[in-house]
Amino acid sequence: MQNIILTGFMGTGKTTVGRILAAALNRPFVDMDGLIAAREGRSIEAIFAEDGEAYFRALEKQVLAEVLRKKGQVVSTGGGALLQNREALEARGILICLTADPEEIIKRLTEEGGRPLLAGDLQKKIQAILAERRHLYGSVPRQINTGRKTPRQVAEEIMALLRQEGITLK
Ligand code: S3P
Repeated sequence: MQNIILTGFMGTGKTTVGRILAAALNRPFVDMDGLIAAREGRSIEAIFAEDGEAYFRALEKQVLAEVLRKKGQVVSTGGGALLQNREALEARGILICLTADPEEIIKRLTEEGGRPLLAGDLQKKIQAILAERRHLYGSVPRQINTGRKTPRQVAEEIMALLRQEGITLK
């Protein structure tokens, strides 16, 4: 059974939706940032602050390669994992990109915090990174817009899409 892998910008609901999806399909759930933080014994914010983004990206690549050796999981990746791991993500699972309007992303991330790349002027940073990565996220064939939907509805929509494609879900 293939892995189901969620990508998309910060604040698009990858972790929340992934957890619901995994429970519904009775599959193991892996939250990449959670796993990285647990391995390091510190938060993603602390990793960025103490060792920088390059260190985090190397760690992310290594942990991702390890995770993707297994099959049948639901994997929620960090929003930047697609930058350097696209090939591995597409080769080792069914990749799905969650999207949301910039206004919605700004609203969700203002409430959440904990994103080192967004320190300072949150709105400006989000817009700049979104513009930089728009093409990257946009080039993933399976796109699910999460706007005005509950995480459960998004999970249902993913399952419906994959069923339509004839993919074995459980
Ligand atoms: C990042 C997204 C974050 C986390 C790190 C970098 C990014 O994950 O991996 O702060 O580059 O988009 P979420 O998408 O879960 O917020």
